[in-house]
Parts: sequence; C-alpha cells; structure tokens
Amino acid sequence: MADTASMPAATAVAAAEQKSLLRFLTCGSVDDGKSTLIGRLLFDSGSVFDDQMAAVARDSRKFGTTGEEPDLALLLDGLEAEREQGITIDVAYRYFSTARRKFIVADAPGHAQYTRNMAVAASVSDLAVLVVDARKGVSEQTRRHLTVARLLGVRHAVLAVNKIDLADYSQARFREIEADLRRLAEAFETCRAIPLSARYGDNVALPSERLAWFDGPTLLELLETVEAGHDEGDRPFRLQVQLVCRPDSAFRGYQGTVASGRIAPGDPVVAALSGQTTRIARIADRDGDREGAQAGDAVTLTLADEIDISRGDVLAEAANRPEVSDQFAAHLVWMGDEPLLPGREYLVKCGTRILPASVTEISHRLDVASGERLAAKKLDLNDIGFAKLALSQPIAFEPYAVNRRMGAFLLIDRFSNATLAAGVIEHGLRRATNIHWQSVDVDKAARAAAKHQRPGVLWFTGLSGSGKSTIANLVEKKLHAEGRHTYLLDGDNVRHGLNRDLGFTDADRVENIRRVAEVARLMADAGLIVLVSFISPFRAERRMARELMGEDFLEVWVDTPLEICRQRDPKGLYKKAFAGQLSNFTGVDSPYEPPETAELHVETARQSAEAAADAIVEYLRARDAAR
Ligand code: ADX
Repeated sequence: MADTASMPAATAVAAAEQKSLLRFLTCGSVDDGKSTLIGRLLFDSGSVFDDQMAAVARDSRKFGTTGEEPDLALLLDGLEAEREQGITIDVAYRYFSTARRKFIVADAPGHAQYTRNMAVAASVSDLAVLVVDARKGVSEQTRRHLTVARLLGVRHAVLAVNKIDLADYSQARFREIEADLRRLAEAFETCRAIPLSARYGDNVALPSERLAWFDGPTLLELLETVEAGHDEGDRPFRLQVQLVCRPDSAFRGYQGTVASGRIAPGDPVVAALSGQTTRIARIADRDGDREGAQAGDAVTLTLADEIDISRGDVLAEAANRPEVSDQFAAHLVWMGDEPLLPGREYLVKCGTRILPASVTEISHRLDVASGERLAAKKLDLNDIGFAKLALSQPIAFEPYAVNRRMGAFLLIDRFSNATLAAGVIEHGLRRATNIHWQSVDVDKAARAAAKHQRPGVLWFTGLSGSGKSTIANLVEKKLHAEGRHTYLLDGDNVRHGLNRDLGFTDADRVENIRRVAEVARLMADAGLIVLVSFISPFRAERRMARELMGEDFLEVWVDTPLEICRQRDPKGLYKKAFAGQLSNFTGVDSPYEPPETAELHVETARQSAEAAADAIVEYLRARDAAR
C-alpha cells in the first residue's frame, strides 16, 4: 500500500488526484465493535491518515477552516447554524487512503437511541457500514439506521457481521443474519453482508482461512471497488446565496458555495425566486478573479444586470431553473424530545434560507421493523415519517434525490433553537403555486371605518373552569351595549361545529387553536372585535395567533389556581379527571403553559368577574383613545 505521507508533497497530490473518493459512514454501538473495526481497517490496510492530501486540503480551504478539523466542509449547510447556536453534532471525520482509493469515514458515535448524528453523517455519504454483533444479529436500531441511511441518499450498504469468532465462524449463523436483512437490502443499489472479526482481522482487509466458506470480498476490497458517488460538478449549476455584499454602490456581489455544477463568466443564469435572468460577469474568491467555479467552491459572483436577489435565493443555470414553492412533501427524521405536532409553527432551514413553517399533514409514520406505513397524528423522538409542509414564503429547492444540498432541510424550534428534525424533500406541491391572494377593494380598514371601531382580538386563556367564558361573556355584553360590533368564539361551542372532529390530545389542541385563530383573524378582518375563549394551553399556538393578528391582539390570562377550578367544577369534569375517568385533562394529566407576555392578567381569586370585565373594557377604551 502506498504511504502518501512519506512522498514529496507534489507526488502525493498527483497520486491523490487520480484516485476516486468514497465517503462512507459507520453505524453501530460501541459494544458491537465499531471502533475496533475502523482501527483494524486502517491498520491492516497500511492506510494512513493523510490530512495533507489534495482533496482534503481543497475541502478545508474552500470552507476556510484550518488545521485538522475540516468537518464543516462535509456537513449540511444547515449545521453551520447549529454550530453557531452551540449545538454540537457529534460526527468525527477521518481521512485515509489506500493505493486504490481515498476515503472519508464519517463516524457517528451515538447514544444507542439517537439517530441525529447518524442522519448527519448519512447525508454526506455514499455507503454505510452497519456493524452488528454476530451473536445478536440485526436489531431494531440496525433497521432504523438502514432506513435513515436510505432516506438520506446512501446508495450502498454493508452489514459488517462482526465477532464472527465468538459465533464459531459459523456459516449458518451468518446466513441467518444475512436473510434477516433481505427486505431492507432491496432499497439499496447494492447491499452485502460480510462476516468478519475486527479483533482478529478476519476478512477486514485480508481474507481469512477461518472464513473459507465465504466467497465474497473482504470489507476493504468492497470499499475499494464499490461505485463511488456521482460528481456534483456534472449537475446543473446552483449556488445558494449566503450573502449579498455591497461595499459601495458600484459593486454588488453574491457570495455562496456552489452546490452543484460549474460556472464561468458569460454563462446565463436565473435567480430562482424571481425567474429573472442575466449572465455571470465575474467570479472571484479571496485570491482574486478566477476563470470558473465548480461544486464545493466558495465564491463571489457579479452579474451583468442588476436583478432582484437576496440571501436565501438560488442562482441557477438559466435553462434549468429549480422548483419554487411554499409547500412540499418530505421525509422527516424526528429528533425532538417533544413530538412533532401538525399545525405547530417551526422554522425551516433550507440552504441559506430560514422561514416559519408548519406541517399541514402527516401522511404516514414508518414502522421500522416491518417497513409498514402507519397512520399517525404525531411523530415522536426517532420516528421517521412522511409529511406535507407549508412555509410562510416560497423557497427554491430540488428533490433530495436530484440534489442533496438543494433538497435537505432542518426543522428548528422557534423558542429554543434546537434541531427538531432532518428532512429531505420528495416533491413540491403544485397546488401552492396555483393559489394566489385575491386582492379585494373593500379592505379591513374600510370595514372597520363603517363600524366606527378598531377591530381586534381579545384572547382569553386559562384552565377549564377558570372563568374565561363568564368574563368574556360580560365583556361582550358591555361592548355590545356601547354599540360595538362583536363576536364571541367559545371553545365548548366551536367544538360542537367547526372543530367537532377534534379531541384533547396535544395534536388536536394545536389544530383546534390554529383553526380558531384563523377564524378570529377573518372576523377581525371583517371589522369585528372578536373575543376568543379557549383554554389554549400551549405558548407556541398563542404566539402563532398573536403573530397572525399583529398589534390587534390582546392576551387575557384568566389566572385561577387549579385547586379553585377543581372546587368550582361547573361541569363535573375535574371530578371525573381526578377519578381517572377522563384523560388528557388540562392541569391534571395534560399541561397548561401560563402566558409570559399577557397584556391583561386577571386573578379571579381576588377580583370578581364583573370587576375583571370592567377592567378589560377600560383597557380597550384607553388603548383606542391613545391612538
Ligand atoms: S383547548 O385546550 O383545545 O383550548 P377548549 O377550550 O377548546 O380546549 O375546550 C375546553 C373545554 O372542553 C373545557 O372547558 C371542558 O368543558 C371541555 N373538555 C372536555 N374534555 C376536556 C379535557 N380533556 N381537557 C380540557 N377540557 C376538556
């Protein structure tokens, strides 16, 4: 085996350039011998860690990292944001080469139950090595890893059936494990099982007498010969704009990393979001002007014409514009501790763009063991599902199968910034592009003026029995008496009609509030003062309602201690809930998240409903007078 490290630098670079590169990841738990296997692979193949090799040097240079930590070059764009937020994704990259090939191994050490690291590693790999213990066989975790690997575009899989020495080098045992894999194997271009012993080196880099019955390749042989990834440079040109730089009024440059394809001055390009076309004027990097750029290069482009482009847009080959839509269908690997709930607002980070988004529908959840698609209303930690997403604005993208960088995204929590899911876009939903806002001539202001009032939403939140409806009812009577145009939306009532199909699971409550917030918005748009009286236990949805309404939103926290609600128990529901006859009851076995920013705080233990209603009406009056 060639030891490139001892060659003169120029020779090593020349040798490295001729060899193909295979990116692979390893999965499995420590107990299965993953580390030993990697160590054995490097040692027996006479491989060297060669960070100074050309490919690596280039990878590091283009991402501006120094030293031996070029991992940024390998991650999804989205992960840079995570890094800034201090969320570490635990993936270690190792570089080595043999005489035949260069390798980058993404090693995702994982808590047995977490798939996040593994998903990140898979998103940049062509092949996955799954290490299993010959005595234990294929576990649920192995199946999950295989499913995630396939979803994230890994084309080849190898099942390293390790510790075969502890199973007496048994062919029968090996065949049993191999057969177990059949269903999952079909999803890959190639999928092989290889018996080996990392500890003794059997069949890792060198064939073994003790496995004479096995006529397949050694692990290393397979890694050296499997078809490596396609060259991203051969695909249509795409650059996700990271930054628009304008040092002075004369210069406008667009910075980003070329996601795919190549480009040269004079080439026609299109700004994906607007569809405007122009030509590349100049291409530069920190060393000055250059004649071209290709996938992986970080560059600044200038254009022949001034067109409308901002951060998050995509510059693309003019004849091959990416899709643009605000809705798409995608596979999700859920990594949040809290479940995914349709209707809840999250942030989507796709390329360089971050936008509010929500899941409109979960089409199915995968049963990892059987591969079956199951109906689901939520996704829990480590669940893999297929869902439809709606974004607040259109983005430019491509299906993940066509372009990994253009089709991968993350879902991020709006409050904590935690990564909640890795997603891969399957296809855009066309209906999004065909529905436009209808502009109308009689608008909210005109309707409000006709009613001589300032429309708005008074949002009452609090436990069941806290007094929300009583107070809201009094407020409405007072406003009505003053000649105001009002409408009261009450949880119990709306649940008899519009929301008849919803129960009290977290998912249903999220949808309940989403719908009533939309209805309240329409009513406020009609010029009404809308009173909403719903428990609305979650901060996220109340915030969503607030953002929908803007400054016309007033949150009223009807704050009554649980003990008092329980004593009042107007509908006898607390009695049932505490007796265990009613489940998911707010305050008992379902959470209530108190408001942090309510405009009005009513403590019913200290104030009568009448006095509270007066205070609210007074608040409204003062607010209107202040305008
Ligand atoms: S919310 O949580 O989704 O906002 P909503 O205000 O619509 O709830 O409905 C609450 C009313 O439904 C309560 O006032 C109570 O009368 C009734 N109810 C029935 N079951 C439950 C339950 N499990 N939890 C809370 N309220 C319930």
